[in-house]
Amino acid sequence: MPHPELPAACLYSHPSLGRLWKKVHLACSPFLQRPALQRLYRLPSPRIRKHFGLRPYSVVALGCADGVKESLLLKKLPPPTVLLAADTNPSLAQQAAIRLPARKKIWRKIDLTHELPVSLFRDLQPVSSNPNSKIQRFPILVTLFGVLPNLPPLPLLERIARFLRPKDLFLFSANLAPGTKGRSGALRVLPQYDNPPTREWLEAAVGHFRPRLPKGRLEFGIFCDPQQKSLARIEARWISRRKIVTVFSSRRPTSSQVEAWIRTAQLRKLARYLDPLGEEGVWIVTRKA
Ligand SMILES: C[S@@+](CC[C@H](N)C(=O)[O-])C[C@H]1O[C@@H](n2cnc3c(N)ncnc32)[C@H](O)[C@@H]1O
Repeated sequence: MPHPELPAACLYSHPSLGRLWKKVHLACSPFLQRPALQRLYRLPSPRIRKHFGLRPYSVVALGCADGVKESLLLKKLPPPTVLLAADTNPSLAQQAAIRLPARKKIWRKIDLTHELPVSLFRDLQPVSSNPNSKIQRFPILVTLFGVLPNLPPLPLLERIARFLRPKDLFLFSANLAPGTKGRSGALRVLPQYDNPPTREWLEAAVGHFRPRLPKGRLEFGIFCDPQQKSLARIEARWISRRKIVTVFSSRRPTSSQVEAWIRTAQLRKLARYLDPLGEEGVWIVTRKA
């Protein structure tokens, strides 16, 4: 029987937890320490420019936190007409909307474990001077950076695939298990998680959780994802005498596992960019025709 799990949103949605997550990110994230990872978020821009040409487009930044990765990308693209920054933590989404360029900016609290709300389409309508004209929404660039490790990945990709229209693009990142073997690859990156700032953040999340968890301690390890046994998952578990609860999990697929999800979710790969150390990858995909 799999252990009960805290929903990922519980680690981020309270303002103080959002700040603690940011502190962890600044102290421990390889993204800030390795220019090759920052480059991954600039590299897709020529392919995206070619796809949209000179046409106006909108950006939907899902799970964007404060939008640092999206800003690397958007600096290399013409400013979108509409930008929608959406995250479970509304103050982070608001910071993203301030940071990112666009003619019209919106930020929203969203829950990515549910179907994307149809009201997103309304938000994305450009303002028209003619109230009788039938307004088509512009093609959209959807981004999803750093979220796939935290939520069941295939159902999330399938929900986003259902939201896409044929001319839209979807750009997402995955934190990978370097090499071809998930478990040993995940073991190499475990120290990025089992460290004092991450423990401080996750212990604070346990303290916020209701109903209260019994007194216990955090233990990190590598386990199989309960929904896909071949997928390695770094977990922080709350161990108490009465029960074990998974507080945090980061799925670490190999790049071929990511590509199998793409196919199953009825998406089509247009391009892939891999970190030279194999710890992260960015994919551009579109809806299958
Ligand atoms: C690991 S952080 C990545 C943040 C940022 N995109 C980056 O890559 O640095 C995961 C992000 O997903 C958001 N998130 C987690 N669960 C969510 C949910 N159920 N719905 C919406 N956003 C969620 C968090 O608030 C957080 O901003």
